[in-house]
Amino acid sequence: MSAEPLEIYLEEQDLAEGLRSDVRVGLTADPKWLPPKWFYDARGSELFEEITRLPEYYPTRAERAVLVERAGDIAASTGAKTLIELGSGSSEKTRLLLDAFTRRGGLGTFVPLDVSVSALLRSTEQIAADYPGLRVRGIVGDFTRQLDRLPTGGRRLVAFLGGTIGNLLPAERAGFLAAMRAALEPGDHLLIGTDLVKDPAVIVPAYDDAAGVTAEFNRNVLRVINRELGADFDPAAFSHVAYWDPEREWIEMRLRAQRPMRVRVLGWEVDFAAGEELRTEVSAKFHPAGIAAELAAAGFRREEFWTDPDGLFGVTLARAD
Ligand code: SAH
Ligand code: AVI
Repeated sequence: MSAEPLEIYLEEQDLAEGLRSDVRVGLTADPKWLPPKWFYDARGSELFEEITRLPEYYPTRAERAVLVERAGDIAASTGAKTLIELGSGSSEKTRLLLDAFTRRGGLGTFVPLDVSVSALLRSTEQIAADYPGLRVRGIVGDFTRQLDRLPTGGRRLVAFLGGTIGNLLPAERAGFLAAMRAALEPGDHLLIGTDLVKDPAVIVPAYDDAAGVTAEFNRNVLRVINRELGADFDPAAFSHVAYWDPEREWIEMRLRAQRPMRVRVLGWEVDFAAGEELRTEVSAKFHPAGIAAELAAAGFRREEFWTDPDGLFGVTLARAD
């Protein structure tokens, strides 16, 4: 069966308007910042996939190890008819869930949602081809704004993998979990992957790899702004910084101006001092008790919490109460 045409809740003009607004706010702030969702054009999505295969980037392998062990339990205990995946990307690890649901029977529909059209086109076609009989409905949308548009009815399992929830700021995270709960019915489930707090000597190299792939991923946001908004950033003039914030327990990716620069964007000029940093992403790391507390505050009950054998990454199965 081929995938259904993508359902577009974010048109090109919505994306362009969102980027303009984020750039206006973020580049006039002090310190300057940008939200991470703008990394993911076609090239950014490919670079992220490359990151997942780097020796230093442990989260993907660790989360995969949990899913290899637990996908059967997840299929059995949720009994889902619809699997929704937020920030689905390539949906590579999600195949472990789809395999388990296929063995068990009963899953009718897979609904990946992502801002990246290129990632969705590729993943929906491949999954539809590999799972005949499964309805595949890809949605181009923003999980921070459009959870009310998710399909309703039937037992639903929402998967939010990879630790992407950690890319939201704490207030955004609370808003996301509340909106997620409001979109679900009691008995629906949320499966959520979270990277765990550990020695920064393990975390920092995962965000500053020797091959420089993460640095390219980081600079990609400047290329996106150049292309979409006609700006004239020189990406090569910004160096990649991965900073571990021990108080907030998150990694910040930043771009540091190597020299003073005046950049034209949206008809105005943005000045960077030599050494000035632009924050492009936070990636929060979690403690098991903190995850359970945030879920409980939003109206979810934790049913299971699993980690990989090395205790690097956590996967929580929670039920909407
Ligand atoms: N879930 C996959 C991919 C993680 S990368 C994994 O575990 O490997 C993060 C994904 O979230 C990217 O595909 C990116 O395009 C998407 N994304 C980032 N911000 C988003 C947003 N606000 N709404 C929807 N998708 C978003
Ligand atoms: C998608 N997200 C969970 C990744 C992370 O680890 O925070 C994005 C990423 N940033 C740098 N490397 C990977």
